[in-house]
Amino acid sequence: MKILVIGSGGREHAICWKIASEMDSGTLYALPGNGGIGEIANLVDIPVSHYQEIATFAKKEKIDLTVVGPENPLADGLVDIFRKKGLKIFGPTRKAAMLEASKVWAKEFMAQHNIPTGKFSVADNFQQAKRIIEKTEFPVVIKYDGLAAGKGVSIAEGKEDAISFLEAVFEKNIFSSTNVRVVIEEFLTGEELSYLVITDGEVFIPLAPARDYKKIYDGDKGPNTGGMGCYSPVPICDSELEKIIEKKIVIPTIKGLQRDGIEYKGVIYFGLIITKDGPEILEYNVRFGDPETEVILPRMESGLLELLEATTEERLREYDIKWKKKAAVDVVIASGGYPGKYETGFVIAGVESVSGDGIIFHAGTKKENDRFVTAGGRVLNVVGLGDTIEDAREKAYEKVQKISFKNMYYRKDIGYLKE
Ligand code: GLY
Repeated sequence: MKILVIGSGGREHAICWKIASEMDSGTLYALPGNGGIGEIANLVDIPVSHYQEIATFAKKEKIDLTVVGPENPLADGLVDIFRKKGLKIFGPTRKAAMLEASKVWAKEFMAQHNIPTGKFSVADNFQQAKRIIEKTEFPVVIKYDGLAAGKGVSIAEGKEDAISFLEAVFEKNIFSSTNVRVVIEEFLTGEELSYLVITDGEVFIPLAPARDYKKIYDGDKGPNTGGMGCYSPVPICDSELEKIIEKKIVIPTIKGLQRDGIEYKGVIYFGLIITKDGPEILEYNVRFGDPETEVILPRMESGLLELLEATTEERLREYDIKWKKKAAVDVVIASGGYPGKYETGFVIAGVESVSGDGIIFHAGTKKENDRFVTAGGRVLNVVGLGDTIEDAREKAYEKVQKISFKNMYYRKDIGYLKE
C-alpha cells in the first residue's frame, strides 16, 4: 500500500506517525514533510501549492490514498483535481471547504440551518463596516472573510481598535485587494472547545475533544498564533454536553450540507464556545486541527488508516473508535519572535534524548548534516501522556527541559486547568 500525506506541520507528523505504526508493508510519502517526518516517511520535494504536479506524482506512483493536512489545498480544490483523475483522497471538495474558506458563507449556512452561533452582520466596504461599528456594542469580533492563517480575526475592545483593523483590511488590503468582506460578530464568552468529527456525509464519529491555546503568552495574552499547546480529554466536555453538541451542532450541520446538496467526506472541526446558554460555533474548519491532532492521535487505540479509507469509501457505518484511557498534553516550542518575525537555522539540541511516556512531533524543522535545525515559527510539539492531564502535563514539561535551541520560546501554563 502507498500512502501520501500532504503538509509539513506537527499535525502531519502526528498523522504520519500513526499511519506508519499501522503499515506492515508499503510506502509512506509526505509532501513536503519536515525534519521529523523525514525519519518515518519518504519526503517528496513538490511545493504544496503545485496541485497538478502533486496529482501527476500520485498517479505515477500509484498512491492508494492521499491525506490532506492543511486548509489551503482543500479550499483550492485539490480533492476535486484528484477525483477527476480517479485518485482516492481524504478531505472535502472545494465546495464543501467553503465552511472554512469563507466566514460569510459559513455564517449564512449556520443562520439558514438554525445552528447556534453569535449574531452577525456582513460588510463589503469600509463605509458600510464603519456604519455597523457605530451601532455595535464592544468588544466585537471582526473576521476577514477568507483564509488568513489564523490572522484574520480581531477582537476589538472599542471603536478605535475596530476602525484600525477595518482600515488594514479594506484600505491597506493586508489580506487581499479583491472581493474583500468582513463578518462583524457578537463577542461570546465561555470555555472554548475543539470538537472534531469524521464523516462520510451520512454517518459521523466524534474524535476525542481537545482544548487548544491560541495566544502566544501565558494567561491567554498577546497575539493569536497557530496554537501554542493543547490537551485532551477536556473535563468540561462530559457525555451530557457531547449529546447537546451532537444534537444542536453536529447533526444540523451534516443535515444542512445534505439539504444544500453538498457532499462532505472528511473531518469537520467545530471551534466551539460553551456559553451559559449552551454550545455555539465560533468557526468551522474542514480538516484536522493543529495542535489538536497531536493530542488526539496518541490517545487513539483504533487504526487511523482504516478509518480514513472507510470515510472515502462511505463505509463509516461499519466503524467505531476506541480510545486509550490516557490524557495527553502538548507543549509547543516556537522560535522566539513568532508569530511575528523570527530567525531560523538554529541547531536543536536534546530532541533525540527524549524518551518515556510521550512523543515529539516536529513542525518547523529540517535535517541538515545529520542534525535537526529550526525552519519555522512553531518548531516542535512535545506531547506527554499520563493517567491524568496533570500527569501528562508534568511529563510534557519534563521533556521540554531536555530540548534547547537559540531563542526557544514556549508557554509555561499549558494544561493547567481552570478551577
Ligand atoms: N488549532 C486551531 C486550528 O487548527 O485551526
